[in-house]
Amino acid sequence: MRGVAVWSEFLERAAQEAMVADLRDVVRAAPLFRPVTRWGKPMRVRMTSAGRFGWVSDRSGYRYEPRHPSGVAWPPIPASVLAVWEAVSGADRAPECCLVNFYDADAKMNLHQDRDEADFSQPVVSISLGDEALFRIGNAERGGSTESLWLRSGDVLVMGGPARLLHHGIDRVRAGSSTLLPDGGRINLTLRVVT
Ligand code: SIN
Ligand code: FE2
Repeated sequence: MRGVAVWSEFLERAAQEAMVADLRDVVRAAPLFRPVTRWGKPMRVRMTSAGRFGWVSDRSGYRYEPRHPSGVAWPPIPASVLAVWEAVSGADRAPECCLVNFYDADAKMNLHQDRDEADFSQPVVSISLGDEALFRIGNAERGGSTESLWLRSGDVLVMGGPARLLHHGIDRVRAGSSTLLPDGGRINLTLRVVT
């Protein structure tokens, strides 16, 4: 879709469960937090990161930081997650950030570009776990036509090449559509090369 490679059902159920267990360790070390935009508005998703860098947003703006807001270093990216990058990215570099986004039933994410990284020749790999979400993808420029796709648990996307800077977002989450997470919700992981 628009140059985004879609790997439907890339992860089978057992692999999804193992990845969620790994992410529990990440969240224990670096708890989910709710960032605010540079205008002070709380974002709808809760976030944390693994890897050398984590993505943060606050009144100073959007950027990558080597530490969680609490001051602790981000935990390492789990091997189960790195394996997905190895399998699908086609990249010659390793990811330096795994951004973890948690969506509850009411969360969404406005259309945006991922452009806080230094090297746009490196792809972004996205992994979806838990409840289904309506993903919208547009253009490199603001505005214009968009297309939508339901992302399901275990689906993987690669935004690379001409698709690397397309606007994208999540319109809504379909609560209760997956049994993967005992308390419901959706996890999205995005793997990025930062430097
Ligand atoms: C993002 O663009 O950072 C998240 C996309 C998604 O949740 O699928
Ligand atoms: Fe994004």
